[in-house]
Amino acid sequence: MFIDSHCHIDFPDFSEGAAPLLQRMQTARVTHALCVSVNLENCPRVLALAEAHDNVYASVGVHPDHDEGREPDVAELVQLARHPRVVAIGETGLDYYRMQRESVDWQRARFRTHIRAAREAGKPLIIHTRNAAEDTLAIMAEEGAGECGGVMHCFTESQAVADAALAMGFHLSFSGIVTFKSAKDLKEVARNAPLERLLIETDSPYLAPVPHRGKRNEPAYVADVAAEIAALRGMTPEAVGQATSRNFHRLFRTEAVR
Ligand code: NI
Repeated sequence: MFIDSHCHIDFPDFSEGAAPLLQRMQTARVTHALCVSVNLENCPRVLALAEAHDNVYASVGVHPDHDEGREPDVAELVQLARHPRVVAIGETGLDYYRMQRESVDWQRARFRTHIRAAREAGKPLIIHTRNAAEDTLAIMAEEGAGECGGVMHCFTESQAVADAALAMGFHLSFSGIVTFKSAKDLKEVARNAPLERLLIETDSPYLAPVPHRGKRNEPAYVADVAAEIAALRGMTPEAVGQATSRNFHRLFRTEAVR
């Protein structure tokens, strides 16, 4: 019914292991989750989760907030992407929230590396952008990111940024933020987005949706994101689940399991 297109269940927040999480997913009718890598050091943990569980997929990449680990090159990312459970490259992108834009040439270079790897590997991109939408879109265009496509994850930007990403063939993934009362503009973007480009995610352990706000987030709660989008669009949560699951399987070329 529902698919969590972006979570970090390899993080220490989930030290109790995957079994209880998967059980609660089942109860909430969340059929699959995509566990997203944020650095090369934890990549083996992410891959192990996807190897151990048929309904957990993996991505490979280094997050723009991570400046302490090893830097990937195109060849290494392409090689990692050959793993049969890896369905995407990322998360990658730009984040000027924590760092001044003048000091993050390395972020832009790393982002270009990921786009080149995604194009070479023929896998979609998972893109993170924060306080950096203009540069993110410019680099996506310069590097031909539209060729491999992908998703703007945890989308919190304006309608104009949404339109630019959609024009490049990208999908928009909405997280628990869309359930927050204060997110009025974002609710509008979620209402207007083309149904066939919509994805839902938790970004767990962060950003738990209402009514779990402030607690540890987990993939089962993606059902609450679907319920909010359904309310905004005058649809049933089931219809949002079906559409976003179909979109997920098409984008990441995972076989559709009912
Ligand atoms: Ni993330």
